[in-house]
Amino acid sequence: MNRAEALELLKEHVKTDQLLRHSFAVEASMIAYAKKYGENEERWGLLGLLHDIDFEKYPEEHPKHAPELLKGTDLDQEFIDSIVSHGYDAGVPRDLLERKALHAVDQMSSFIVAVALMRPTGLEDLKVKSVKKKIKDKAFAKAVNREELDESMASFGVELADHVDVIVEGLKNHEEFLQKQGYTLF
Ligand SMILES: [Fe+2]
Ligand SMILES: [Fe+2]
Repeated sequence: MNRAEALELLKEHVKTDQLLRHSFAVEASMIAYAKKYGENEERWGLLGLLHDIDFEKYPEEHPKHAPELLKGTDLDQEFIDSIVSHGYDAGVPRDLLERKALHAVDQMSSFIVAVALMRPTGLEDLKVKSVKKKIKDKAFAKAVNREELDESMASFGVELADHVDVIVEGLKNHEEFLQKQGYTLF
């Protein structure tokens, strides 16, 4: 499955702009980490793009219904399991690097986009300091569980400052690509 096909499938199941933009942000970060670690950029990008495919239809049971929405595609079982692994108590351990990565960038990607939206310069020169300030500000992006952010970074083995740098760079690169296709992260 190539990216265009994945996006088409995603859009069959995801109708809100917000979730589409979140999917793009996670995709951007996964590509950035695949690049950094010499992993398969296409695969990691698709994991990010498709990870919340069942969220709109099954918010309570997400991501347990992802496998049925991805059935009949050429995505391998390990890929599908990796998507399921990002959920809590979904029955798949986060035992592969791609799973730890997905978990670590899931909430952080959109958190950083939210921080960028508050800044006149957006993603430009966005550093860990701004992100730290917003992590401490409990009223900001309340839905993002700060403990989960910490846990997911620890399990992936990354420090906040580097994590922010990798994700910001990934988001910037991806925004250019998305705009050419008529989409945006913001
Ligand atoms: Fe999710
Ligand atoms: Fe997500």
